Order: sequence, then C-alpha cells, then structure tokens
Amino acid sequence: MELYKKITEKIRNGSISMHVPGHKNNTIGRLSDFDWRYDMTEIEGLDDLHEPNGVLDRLNAEIATKYEDYKAQVMVNGTTNGIISALYALSQTHERFIVIKGAHKSIYHGLDLTNSPYQEIALEEVYSYDIKPRDVVLITYPTYIGECFDIENVIHHIHSLQGLVLTDEAHGAHLDIAEGFPSSSMKFHSDITIQSYHKMLPALTMASVIFVRDEKLYENIMKYINYFETSSPSYLVMLSIEQAHVFYRNYSADEFFQKRALLIETMKKAGLQVSQQDDPAKLLLGHKELTPFMLHDVFTDLHIYPEMVTDEGVLFCLPLFHIGDKYPFSPLIERIGIMDFRARKPEPVQVQVDILEGERCVKSIVPYPPGIPLVHENELITRAHLKSIKHYLRNRVRIEGIKYNIEYYSNEGNQ
Ligand SMILES: Cc1ncc(COP(=O)(O)O)c(C=O)c1O
Repeated sequence: MELYKKITEKIRNGSISMHVPGHKNNTIGRLSDFDWRYDMTEIEGLDDLHEPNGVLDRLNAEIATKYEDYKAQVMVNGTTNGIISALYALSQTHERFIVIKGAHKSIYHGLDLTNSPYQEIALEEVYSYDIKPRDVVLITYPTYIGECFDIENVIHHIHSLQGLVLTDEAHGAHLDIAEGFPSSSMKFHSDITIQSYHKMLPALTMASVIFVRDEKLYENIMKYINYFETSSPSYLVMLSIEQAHVFYRNYSADEFFQKRALLIETMKKAGLQVSQQDDPAKLLLGHKELTPFMLHDVFTDLHIYPEMVTDEGVLFCLPLFHIGDKYPFSPLIERIGIMDFRARKPEPVQVQVDILEGERCVKSIVPYPPGIPLVHENELITRAHLKSIKHYLRNRVRIEGIKYNIEYYSNEGNQ
C-alpha cells in the first residue's frame, strides 16, 4: 500500500494545494456529497455514455447550454481523449493542420497517430500565414500559465478564410464563470472546444467535456470517442462533471476576489514577485534572489504544492474560493508569513546527455509539466536543445523521453 501511504502522508502533513484538480484536496465544491456507493455502471436507468438517450443525454444537453449552438459530450478520459478523437475524425475529411506553438503533447500524438502532416506557427503568424479553406488550426487557449489573447479576432480571421478552429481549453472550463474572468473561445464560435473540468473546476481528475458546433462533425467525433474511451465510464467522474456544472452556474466570485487580493498582498509583503495573469485564477511567482526552481522548493518545504515551475516562475492555480469552502486559507497565509528565502543551492545533479547531440530523437522529449514537447520524435537533437535539457535536469524538472533516448544511444548497436 505504498501509494496509499504516500498520499495519506501528504494529507497528514497539512498539504495545501495550489495545483489541479480544482477541488483542491476536496476543499472546494461539494464532492463530499458523494460516496463510493455511487460508483455504478450502466444498469437500468443510468443510460450509456457512448449512445446516451436518457439521463446522460440530458446531462450533455444541460452542459451544452453553457454556450449557444454547441453539442456537448461528457468524457471520463480527459481532454486528451477529446483531442485525439477530434483529430481522428478531422483527419478523414481535412488535409492540412496548423498548430499554434506551445501545444500540449496530446495534439502531436493525435497528429502522429493519424499520419497528419502539420505546420507549427507562432500565434503572431496567424494573420500572415497562408491559411487555405478547410485548414484546421489548433489553438491552446488559455495557455497553461493563464495567458489569454484576442481569440475573437483570431477565430474571425481563420473563419474568414474558411478554416476550422479547434481550441484546446484544457485550462479554461471556468472561463466566463463570473465577471472578471476571460471569455471562452466558444463565445466567438470556435468549431471544436475541449475543456478539462478537473483542472480548474471542482471535478474529479479526468473529467472533461468536448463541445462541437456542427452536428455532423459531432457525430464523426463521437465515433472515435467511443473507440478510445473506456467502455466502463466512471459514474463518479460523470457525477462530478454534473456537480461542477451546477457549481459553475451558481458561482459568485466575491469570495474569490477578496481572498485573492489578500493572498497577493501577503505574498508581496513577504518579498515575492507576483505576476497576475489574464486568467485571475493563475498567478506566476518569483523572487529576486532565487531561481523559480529554488522558490518552488521553499513552498514545498512548507507543504504548499504549486502546479508547476518553469523558467518563467512558480505557477499557482488558485482555488475558486466560495462561501462555505473548506480551503485552508488561514494556514496558507500563516505559512507564507514564515517563508525562509535564504538562498539555497540545489544539490548538483550529474547530467550526461551530450551523447545525444546531433542524434535523431527516438522518443519525444517532453518537460512535464507543462507537457509541451521540446524535441519531437525524429527531430535532430541540437546543442541548443541539450542546453535546455541540462538546465531542466539540473533543476530537477521531470523530462519524459530523455531516459529512453539516452539508453537507446548508449546501446552501441543503435549508433
Ligand atoms: C494545454 C493542455 N491540453 C491538454 C491537456 C490534457 O488534458 P487532460 O489531462 O484532461 O487529458 C493538458 C494537460 O495538462 C494541457 O495542459
């Protein structure tokens, strides 16, 4: 029972969550209304997620009312499932895919699985790039760190060229929840949008919803959702989506903005640099004498767990505070008051990756989080790549694929 021990130890230590899932160790929302007995299956009256025509059909229909003119489908395998299913469906009918840089690995996995050629462009290039009718543009909105941009104009531009827009809103299920939060791309008629309910709303991990405007496209995507998604969907996850939807509908943000203001003030007083993102539920933190990686360790030493650390800073995903929540806000404020920033040097880590220089990457190299590939499979590994890889490894950032590449090229038979 090692995993159980690890998790209960975190709870016993009074962990404070600034990470996903949005229920923050079950202190936000009302997941406690459920119990394990509710983990049922497709018995009489409980419908079939893969061909819903009863209670789950009505749940989909209710969630679809979040934005005008969409069909919605609840999913229990995360946004990853929605992205890969959508790409399968689109690859039958569309030929050219354009990825806005900074996309999550699931986008590349879907393109790889469907053998779909793609071009990567920066967001700023979208207006000058030669988008042709029926091109599919894949956009991450908002970004992991809570940046938004003029998605309305971007969608309008792509639609004016008869392109199709898929928005990965894994980090945006809470958009439009109240005044002061940015708008979803669905306000501006994206064609397909996928939201992870589990990330920012109080739902169970893997709870996601796909929204599609065109009925025929929706049916095509459903075919692949049914191929890839478990045939035994968790009723607990689905219940948590239903409850998160009610939470979203009834949310009042007063408590959120009050506590957020107090938290920011406390952190600034403690000497932290606080960068407020477009999404008010994301804060990027720094300290003038510490690297973000060192600052991250100061937080975790106090059992405050951020979502992520990159060169840009330490990322907090704020709780959607509400009246009656059980979030340990006072302990959080107290712990920030005793943070000790005396410079700490990370222990040196031996990093031997030079043998990879000039080699072809045999498995995508992906710092995780955020899960945005640094080197794609089959791409040449350059000195610049290695510089970033060494920097990440020295700072103990997890990098998927690196061990595999090193082992592969350490094996003389493969050189
Ligand atoms: C931008 C982005 N898209 C998609 C995903 C995948 O979402 P899920 O974990 O719901 O499968 C993630 C997960 O971190 C993400 O950051």
